[in-house]
Amino acid sequence: MNTPVNADQFKLGMRSLAHAVSIITAAHAGHRYGMTATAVCSVTVEQPTILVCLNKNSATYGAVSKSKAYCVNVLRTEDSDLSNLFSGVLSGEGRFKSREWSRLATGSPALLDALVSFDCRVTKKLAHGSHTIFLGQVEQVLFGKKGKPLLYAEGQYAKLASLAHGEPLPEGLDYWGF
Ligand SMILES: Cc1cc2nc3c(=O)[nH]c(=O)nc-3n(C[C@H](O)[C@H](O)[C@H](O)COP(=O)(O)O)c2cc1C
Repeated sequence: MNTPVNADQFKLGMRSLAHAVSIITAAHAGHRYGMTATAVCSVTVEQPTILVCLNKNSATYGAVSKSKAYCVNVLRTEDSDLSNLFSGVLSGEGRFKSREWSRLATGSPALLDALVSFDCRVTKKLAHGSHTIFLGQVEQVLFGKKGKPLLYAEGQYAKLASLAHGEPLPEGLDYWGF
């Protein structure tokens, strides 16, 4: 049997994966919770489902477990400070003060000027080591403010760039014109 890879090797390899940055929110017992996450993935469109992978030590994990719901708020390039806020020293309600939020179908907070927010009801969960994977069926999609996604790769924030040299990226998808 091969010897297992060590954690540093694993983490170094994972730095190569570029992800969009989201804030996962939930509400429980009259309180709002939210945390920055990149472990977010579309699962299927037939029964529209998004998975998120949350550390069991996070306060947001507790709120998602209890409310059986969460909202995935996809951040815009301009929102690296908000990402830091939702992964930093402040906790709970303190993280929500600087921006405007509403509530969607499940009651989870939705960031009004996110690129897009997916409001999800938990349908399945799988505990694995330090984290739990939640699968959530999307009950509502809210298109917030036009823009480009905030990315995280190689241990830092990044933004989209076109591979076609010198060509500007097309404008953000125009859902907002409906
Ligand atoms: C760019 C970035 C991505 C992150 N992605 C995740 C993630 O996918 N899952 C996770 O459990 N924590 C992730 N974290 C860490 C949490 O945001 C952080 O631990 C947060 O403070 C937890 O908040 P809470 O305990 O108040 O709920 C990420 C942090 C950063 C800066």
